[in-house]
Amino acid sequence: DHTNADTLRTPIVAVLGHVDHGKTSLLDTIRGSAVSEGEAGAITQHIGATDIPLDTISGMAGELIDPTDFDLPGLLFIDTPGHHSFSTLRARGGALADIAVLVVDVNDGFQPQTEEAIDILRRTGTPFVVAANKVDTTPGWNPQDGQPIQKSLEAQSERAESMLNENLYEIIGQLSDAGFSADLYWRVQDFQKNIGVVPLSALTGEGVPDLLTVLMGLSQRFMKEEMAIDVRGPGEGTVLEVKDERGFGATIDTVVYDGVVRNGDRLVVGGQEEPIVTEIRALLQPRPLEEIRTEKEFEKVAEVGAAAGVKIAAPDLDRAMAGAPVRVVRDRPEVEVVEEVKAELAEIEVDTAEDGVVVKADTLGSLEAMANALREAEVPVLRAEVGDIAPRDIAVAETANQDEHKAILGFNVDLLANAEAELENADVKLFTNDVIYQLIEDYETFVEERQR
Ligand code: GTP
Ligand code: MG
Repeated sequence: DHTNADTLRTPIVAVLGHVDHGKTSLLDTIRGSAVSEGEAGAITQHIGATDIPLDTISGMAGELIDPTDFDLPGLLFIDTPGHHSFSTLRARGGALADIAVLVVDVNDGFQPQTEEAIDILRRTGTPFVVAANKVDTTPGWNPQDGQPIQKSLEAQSERAESMLNENLYEIIGQLSDAGFSADLYWRVQDFQKNIGVVPLSALTGEGVPDLLTVLMGLSQRFMKEEMAIDVRGPGEGTVLEVKDERGFGATIDTVVYDGVVRNGDRLVVGGQEEPIVTEIRALLQPRPLEEIRTEKEFEKVAEVGAAAGVKIAAPDLDRAMAGAPVRVVRDRPEVEVVEEVKAELAEIEVDTAEDGVVVKADTLGSLEAMANALREAEVPVLRAEVGDIAPRDIAVAETANQDEHKAILGFNVDLLANAEAELENADVKLFTNDVIYQLIEDYETFVEERQR
């Protein structure tokens, strides 16, 4: 269609990291400094995401950025709460995020969820930078609110700077152990070969201009081609979360990464058994500058174009899965779109064996990550599904032949109340954890102990 102009969309930036390392604070600071720059109106809050336009970024980055170097419209940041697996962030053929910020507490260094994030970034080939956060907690630190990190370092005592450096080199060493060559970002020449580490403080804002500059530069240099989309094409996205919303029933918080989604559109969404075919009743956004997760009042919008986060209300979404594809039908045969969604779901389907353990996970992405980790650990899988642990999972686990396989491994899921009694009476062992490798380690320990 020649009438559809290609336009550059906003790159999607995922903010990842261990619990409490400062992901949300970092985003709050980016939003907050925009407000103090008098550009609050420019920032748009989305469901699950925050859109920061280029003008605002260059305002915050000050002398570090020349806005005429860029033609991408800005950055769309996705926060991933520690309790919620960011492996939901998958899209057609790979990662939903175009680029990631791995937040690491400069005092704590790598922690279990940092390791897990690194694994997924490696597997999906997602470019990333490391935000070495909380530099202000260095003993004797002399805070330089909102300043570029070099300016801030100039104001520090030798002692404070050397203590910080020690921590930074610890992190650089941990990155190297994880197989990534890394250095302080101003020493990195080729960001495709080396990971840049940006020392910063989400609390004082120092170093945040540097982070924005590095992200903008990386996106512009390496992702411009992928950002060219048909802005009027049928929308494509990924389910972040399935949520009940008063007055709307089950809704899906969705990140749209291609085309446009309009109210009234027919929609195909990956479901627990079959793709769900439905029609959009409402597209919802939080009211301007309100915090999403506490926001109850939505604004109805007529359409959303990529890249954006949006809450979609439509019938039959209660069987939708986090991490599943979302496709607008528009001008295409519906069956084609259904087949497309089926094919995408088949890609994620886990290889199952005649005998093995039962696996449950909160999202398709985490199920995929679990399956990979179990394959590496040579643990066979009898059944793998998204969702909380239900009575029938216990029944399935009981059918395993070998006793050591009579087990359920649950990642980020709950045991449903009606399954509790069932579990008590069954000869089935339940393992739950929100760190994949710990979950698998617990299971392996159980197997070893049995064999003694
Ligand atoms: P989860 O969403 O639970 O995974 O945590 P998070 O990574 O979003 O961390 P959050 O931003 O909630 O910060 C955790 C704690 O660290 C809060 O008490 C913050 O105030 C504090 N914190 C975050 N960044 C900084 C920083 O740069 N300096 C200092 N001193 N404290 C910080
Ligand atoms: Mg958070």
